[in-house]
Amino acid sequence: MIFETFAAGGCKSYLIGCDATRAAALVDPELSLVDRYLGAASQHGVHVRFLVDTHTHADHFSASRELGQTLGAPVVMHRLSPAPHANLRLDDGDMLIVGQLRLEALHTPGHTRDSMCLVVGDRVLTGDTLLIGGTGRTDLPTGDPYALYESLFGKLLKLPPETLVFPAHDYKGRTSSTIGAEIAENPRLQRKERAEFVAMMEKLDLAAPTHLTEALRANMSGGKTVAQMLAEAAAHIPFVSLAALHERIGANSRDVVVLDLRESDAFRGGHIPGARHLPRGQLELRVNAELPDPTVRIVTCCEFGKISTLAAATLRELGFGRVAALDGGVNAWREAGYPLET
Ligand SMILES: [Fe+2]
Repeated sequence: MIFETFAAGGCKSYLIGCDATRAAALVDPELSLVDRYLGAASQHGVHVRFLVDTHTHADHFSASRELGQTLGAPVVMHRLSPAPHANLRLDDGDMLIVGQLRLEALHTPGHTRDSMCLVVGDRVLTGDTLLIGGTGRTDLPTGDPYALYESLFGKLLKLPPETLVFPAHDYKGRTSSTIGAEIAENPRLQRKERAEFVAMMEKLDLAAPTHLTEALRANMSGGKTVAQMLAEAAAHIPFVSLAALHERIGANSRDVVVLDLRESDAFRGGHIPGARHLPRGQLELRVNAELPDPTVRIVTCCEFGKISTLAAATLRELGFGRVAALDGGVNAWREAGYPLET
């Protein structure tokens, strides 16, 4: 079996491949690692046939939809997943055939109602149902400590004790455990009575994960994240450095339009000398009047260089073929000690 673990922060994802046939599945891929997964798949010489999410993640952005489109492979989730882009939905006990490997889904609700674990050969990918020395939390949307109790004690922990455990999270750099070791040592599993276990889970009082709202929105709807929109825009436009723009302006060159997309107050507070003002919210509607020549050289800028990146991509789509974005924003320009005009 080909088995590679990827870690991004505390999030773990797994590439599981069949040696004989070179078919593979990718489990719980994370958006920031898309290029690494594609690199690893070609390094191993495998074809990724399935993108599997063990549940609707609330703490990071899933790359399943994007990779599914890139690779022409289905996104696999439990039947109860709300994600419209999950195009292969599993019931408890369903198996995926990956070459000569069999990935069997165990429905293990509790962390979320669409949580599942995947048994493959000598190991189980436990998602956020069972972690090394912990369990998934049950206080986020669709979480349920009673269901988690049943999923653990009634199902997952009944796997053979030597079964290797690979969770979707670990914050201490550990790679795997076994069912037997978790039963013996995992502090949360020492509460073997249902009421005791539920009381413990309800008392945890954990902080909400960063990006909770955006992660749920993107993962549940298949919508894009802001970071994704920025990355897509950045891949389609060139950038100009602060120094190069400064030199260009210094030469008193009139062949470049610096377009400042910030709100009026910010623009009045200090802008790059000679910059023209066109707030981002009015860009599409006013651009024809402001910039009648589509062949003009434009450099977009904003406070931190993000809105200007999106705006430059929009201008490209509108037919301004010579638009570039400033690498950095007015904030960086100011910090670099370049002159501002008020
Ligand atoms: Fe989770």
